[in-house]
Amino acid sequence: MKHSLLANGRRIVYYDTGHENGKAPLVLLHGFCEDASVWNTILSQLKPIRIIRIDLPGFGGSDLPLAPGMEVYAEAVCAVLNELGLTRCVLAGHSMGGYTALAFGHKYPERLAGLALIHSHPFEDNLERKENRRRGIEMLRDGKKDLYVAQLFPGLFAPGFARDHPEVVDALIRQGQKQTDAGIVAALEGMIDRRDHRDTLEAVPCPVLFVYGELDSIIPETWISEVVNLPVIAGACRLGGVGHMGMFEAPGVLAESLLRFYGFCLERIAAGM
Ligand code: MLT
Repeated sequence: MKHSLLANGRRIVYYDTGHENGKAPLVLLHGFCEDASVWNTILSQLKPIRIIRIDLPGFGGSDLPLAPGMEVYAEAVCAVLNELGLTRCVLAGHSMGGYTALAFGHKYPERLAGLALIHSHPFEDNLERKENRRRGIEMLRDGKKDLYVAQLFPGLFAPGFARDHPEVVDALIRQGQKQTDAGIVAALEGMIDRRDHRDTLEAVPCPVLFVYGELDSIIPETWISEVVNLPVIAGACRLGGVGHMGMFEAPGVLAESLLRFYGFCLERIAAGM
């Protein structure tokens, strides 16, 4: 179930579960300061299908990337697919995992049978976000990782959820504090430098699903309405009362929408598309 491979001398850890259908698995990419374990909340509901979860370089058990960048993460995803002999996948990324999925779609469009952006978007960072990330890098370089991570997670949840489920927020903070300083810094640098991917959304030859939260403090709903019509085939799932962390705040609805989307992508493959 847990596997690893070496790409350019760096270890990439991934988890392979569920049933092979000879077509395309669902590949799940976690967000910033997280690792593949963030998907545990929806795994049992997704059981009927083959799921590959990857620790992006510098997180979980995976080695640091050779250089920062969403493209470098995308190459790691491609290395896992190649290792498993998979020509295509349905790729779903949460937040920074979605930025990675877009970089993947730009570099390897023919490998996508579907693309799901979960609390994610195609825009590059504005100046304010770049500045915030630079401040984060300074904190990490000053040895303040624990404080940085403790301040990061509470605001990602809808206020009501964070109040009612402090144990969920605390567990994520503890998990985030286990990630390495260098991995977190590389992710921040990679997000600062990432490009706008609206053109990628227009060009990808597969259906695109947007899952977004009504109360997401990182991604206003208007950002999704601006881009939802860019892909040739697109669907959207709005999670009412949810912030940025649907896999914890609304795992049932998130899993259901991913299953439906995955089924749709598989039907297209069966129809020769
Ligand atoms: C994430 O959850 O991956 C981050 O919030 C993404 C970001 O900071 O843009």
